[in-house]
Amino acid sequence: MNRKRIIAGNWKMNLTQESAKELMKDVIKWTPKNLPNDVDVVVCVPFTLLSTVHAMTKNTRIKLGAQNMSWAEKGAFTGEISSEQLIEQGVTHVIIGHSERREMFNETCETVNKKIKTALKNNLTPIFCIGESEQQFEKGETNTVVSRQTKNGLEGLTDDEIKKVIIAYEPIWAIGTGKTASKEDAQKVIAFIREQLPKGVKDIIPILYGGSMNAQNAKELLDQIDIDGGLIGGASLKAHDFLCVAGSCI
Ligand code: 13P
Repeated sequence: MNRKRIIAGNWKMNLTQESAKELMKDVIKWTPKNLPNDVDVVVCVPFTLLSTVHAMTKNTRIKLGAQNMSWAEKGAFTGEISSEQLIEQGVTHVIIGHSERREMFNETCETVNKKIKTALKNNLTPIFCIGESEQQFEKGETNTVVSRQTKNGLEGLTDDEIKKVIIAYEPIWAIGTGKTASKEDAQKVIAFIREQLPKGVKDIIPILYGGSMNAQNAKELLDQIDIDGGLIGGASLKAHDFLCVAGSCI
């Protein structure tokens, strides 16, 4: 099955106007010229950098993503940002339900589900994040956790809607720790997540791995049959490392 491959950078709460421009200059210059059409490179940047990065990427192969959005369409939601406002900035992708938002900002499966629905309604591609904590991993609860998160996050969506979602499996213990999941474990969990999806979509939707993915370990992870790309944190802040990951898809 030929699925789209996606290399997405998540800058998290890093960079300001000048440093973002410096990074993007190199990312654009070094993006492989032979990047196949079925590989998407996405940068998910802080809200304040969307317009700057969009001005630089609009005529390139690089797509623009946000890191969060509101489930509401508009109105009295102080501090939130709507799909319409993101789209106006050139955004095509949006990370939803990242573990940092679930753990530190009280996002629940219910709000994640509402956000995915709002994103899809507005033609934004959700990058829907799931993954177990270290404690859950050690107790052998990975499958139970990812299965629950997958089902709850996609609750109420039709198969045609699920087809437009990208899932990112990010074991929390691997995020920012330098402890990457082994290629065998990442493949096993991602194949299991795929099995939780409805029959008509399970072979179609891209599932990414995230968690200390970098220039050194990307190739062996991306070579796994069910791993369709990566969601890259720290390494996406270095143009060379990020593009080595993207180059591993070629
Ligand atoms: P790191 O690549 O820094 O581990 O972060 C992964 C991540 O959280 C991407 O969303």
